[in-house]
Amino acid sequence: MIFSDPTTTDAWAALTRHRVGMASINLRSLFEQDPGRFDRLSWSVAGLTVDLSKQRLSDETLPLLLDLAKAMDVEGHRAALFAGENVNVTEDRAALHVALRDPTDRAYLVDGDDVSVQIKYARGRMLGFAEQVISGQRSGHTGRRFDQVINIGIGGSDLGPRSAVTALADHLVPDLTVSFVATVDNVALQDALADANAERTLFVVSSKSFTTRETMTNAGHAKQWLVDALGEAAVADHFVAVTAASDAAEAFGVSADAIFPLWDWVGGRYSVCSAIGLSVALACGPTVFERILAGAHAMDQHFETAPLDQNLPVLMGLLSVWNQDFWRTTALAVLPYDHRLRLLPAHFQQLMMESNGKGVRADGEDVSFRTAPIVFGGSGAESQHSFMQQIHQSPMVVPVEFVVALDGQGEDDRDILVANAFAQSEALMRGLSAEEISQNSAKNLIAHKACPGNRQSTTILLESLTPETFGALIALYEHRTFVEGTLWGLNSFDQWGVEFGKALASSLLTDLAAGHADAGRDSSTVGLLNAYLATRSKSPL
Ligand code: F6P
Repeated sequence: MIFSDPTTTDAWAALTRHRVGMASINLRSLFEQDPGRFDRLSWSVAGLTVDLSKQRLSDETLPLLLDLAKAMDVEGHRAALFAGENVNVTEDRAALHVALRDPTDRAYLVDGDDVSVQIKYARGRMLGFAEQVISGQRSGHTGRRFDQVINIGIGGSDLGPRSAVTALADHLVPDLTVSFVATVDNVALQDALADANAERTLFVVSSKSFTTRETMTNAGHAKQWLVDALGEAAVADHFVAVTAASDAAEAFGVSADAIFPLWDWVGGRYSVCSAIGLSVALACGPTVFERILAGAHAMDQHFETAPLDQNLPVLMGLLSVWNQDFWRTTALAVLPYDHRLRLLPAHFQQLMMESNGKGVRADGEDVSFRTAPIVFGGSGAESQHSFMQQIHQSPMVVPVEFVVALDGQGEDDRDILVANAFAQSEALMRGLSAEEISQNSAKNLIAHKACPGNRQSTTILLESLTPETFGALIALYEHRTFVEGTLWGLNSFDQWGVEFGKALASSLLTDLAAGHADAGRDSSTVGLLNAYLATRSKSPL
């Protein structure tokens, strides 16, 4: 695998020249000139239909972008990913999330060893455990059936499973509530414990490292809550762990048969198809979890085999580079038009920004171009009454990815959601000119009402929000993220940038324990610490 500077390639130079010519080309005119544009630039895969026709593409653009994919050896990097090569070059690890959901007997090699067997064994254990809890066969310390599961985790140990359980609200098993605790201000945990019955509560501590301070702090509070209610002996019956650090989990008090393995060749933000999905299997049942895997695998097969010019993760990855580095955008809005998909933007935010929000290429050289966009979003309908004003009229263009589930709630509601999603996409593309406004508007308002348009968006349709299409959607974004990283010459699987803050937090906690700021600190941090220390001394301990 070669990680190089994309800006040195002939393809980048050709795209730079092409971009100059594109400045005067209007999306509206492209549609007027080509009635078949949608058919030509939309693809259906694994229950998803992805419409790229409202991206700023002329007939020449895609071939030039595909030249960049070839120049950056996307196919070679893709082959390395599936082959279990150490694509995570700074941690010298593979990134084999695709192996987690392959139902075939295909071998997946990590350092020469086939890990497919241990994946299937671990999944069997995890799903069997979930079935035992759901059926009541596995119960609490006093023999009572569990009715509440609390997943304690953060980042990839929270966002993926949380968004899955939220999306698959139509598939929840009865009489077992699954909630998620991530932040560490104890309010979230207290909220989750408010109505919990200790005899019937199961805690899932999800942490690849089993050292993340937020997670271990919450787990410690939860353990104390349980011990206060049922005694120390109950811990082993009410805690399970999903981790790569089984020794630490056993030291915490989790019994060996309740520890489900994670491996270092699965990145946290790529781990929802691993045992990190235990909370999903508990919430929706093993069969639904396996259906998620099937959908993700279908997208994996598409990514691995489809020609680049019909390969959705490749095309979406190329468009990110086209928008960020040639149209100079800086953000990406992900707007699901379905209440069930409302947490997707948060999951995709970590996936894309923690993977490619980097300033150094995998070869250690500084980048001279824009990398990951600032990914944000929220419920589409609510966003129209929040920030879409800026997306329509601000001088800063923000590409939008609309995600629309075509099934669901009552017909009228669905009509309203779909009509609004498509209207937003059309408005961004067409704009509203002064001429179109003038005939029925006060002259002094024309400038205020005009919308520039010519703003790019992608629309992803789910024919139905099912476990399969949810899994395919997650895999689509995982792979488009990997393609973007490859095009930028990045390592999409490490996250060194988060380590420094963690180290400083530990150092500040030492100051707080000592009751005073360390002498060498800047005056802002000293001032802030002192303000807190002053407040803390007044508040009841
Ligand atoms: O944000 C840093 C990070 O390591 C993420 O990559 C990860 O998903 C999260 O923290 C939680 O890590 P762990 O699963 O080890 O608790």
